[in-house]
Amino acid sequence: MNSINSILLKNFNTIISANEKGLIKDNKPYLYLENEIIKSYDYKPSQIEIDCKGKMITPGFVDPHTHPVFLNTRHDEFLMRLKGMSYEQIAINGGGIVSTIDSVNKSSEKKIIDNLMLKMDEFIRFGTTTIEAKSGYGLSVDSELKSLSCLESVNKDHAIDIIPTFMGAHAFPKKYQDNPNEYVDIICNEMIPKVADQGIAIFNDVFCEKGYFDIDQTRKIIECGNSFGLKPRLHVDEFQDIGGIELAIETGAVSVDHLMASNSRSIDLLSKSNVIATLLPGTSFFLNLDDYAPAREIIDKGVSVALATDYNPGSSHMKNMSFIILLSNMKLKMSIEEAFVACTYNAAKSLQLEDSIGSISIGKKADLIIWDIKTLEEIPYYFMDAPIQKVIKNGKIAFEA
Ligand code: NIG
Ligand code: FE
Repeated sequence: MNSINSILLKNFNTIISANEKGLIKDNKPYLYLENEIIKSYDYKPSQIEIDCKGKMITPGFVDPHTHPVFLNTRHDEFLMRLKGMSYEQIAINGGGIVSTIDSVNKSSEKKIIDNLMLKMDEFIRFGTTTIEAKSGYGLSVDSELKSLSCLESVNKDHAIDIIPTFMGAHAFPKKYQDNPNEYVDIICNEMIPKVADQGIAIFNDVFCEKGYFDIDQTRKIIECGNSFGLKPRLHVDEFQDIGGIELAIETGAVSVDHLMASNSRSIDLLSKSNVIATLLPGTSFFLNLDDYAPAREIIDKGVSVALATDYNPGSSHMKNMSFIILLSNMKLKMSIEEAFVACTYNAAKSLQLEDSIGSISIGKKADLIIWDIKTLEEIPYYFMDAPIQKVIKNGKIAFEA
């Protein structure tokens, strides 16, 4: 990071941003940034000027669902899937979430932090300026606290903003597989009180799914989190609809994520609530599934949709939001405009941060992407190349091609 205090962006082609109603195109003559976006007429002549001739400017991407606190990769599972094994079969045979636990347990905070810093550099390079990040590969009191404390350090030292989520309820550790309710008690009686006391998480997430946390266990964990001020966001309907959406609405969840298997009744309930649907098409793609979330039905019934990478070592090993836009166009049948709003304004909304990030307007954080392209459809068209010239985070250049 450099120490520029103010930046003037001039001569750009267009600004594309978003708000509650959808996409907004703007042709301001210039943008003046400190750590926030300042009124054009507050122009002061003493700053760094960036000539953005021919460039498009958008808000930085917000990625509202990731699991970056892991060390080992799981490319062996990729091979198993190519041979026809499913995510569930791999998990039953010793792979899956619990197979990532050992390396997190054994590693020092420094090792985890160094690894996270490099990962965050890559997220920034793809234009992501705010990321939600979950614990959940610790699954013991100490390792869950360690994971969240590492995220806190990286948030302080890296340009990217990290919004931390406690996810002790990601899977049952091996030793509790025969008495899972004992682990639920550890989450409620030990983990959540300590996480809340240390102030190291904002949200509380549970993998509510057949074979993972059932409805009663999820309810218990969410209600406990609620009593400690941790707001719920949930993994639901990834493989089966067991009623997670209904529970999420009842318990005041901010977002329900995945929804690949959601049925129409659940989507109807969602459309009568204010809960955001965060869709993760990278997971269907990476698991090589034909099932994608019924995004058209979800959007057409009036639900606000956000998009995220679900970055994790098992089911979605990807960080690039431009690729998520491409998948949402091709597989979720979302328009380019819908996808863009879902990666910016609605993604911020799913983190309850739409008043400060996810769009370009006066007083909001100066989190911007300067693109080497002129139109929105070039983002998915160039997906892997991410034609980004600069990423500005909090008014400072955080990445330069
Ligand atoms: O969102 N569904 C639960 N968690 C991740 C998978 C994590 C893993 O396989 O390690 C997900 O897909
Ligand atoms: Fe996930």
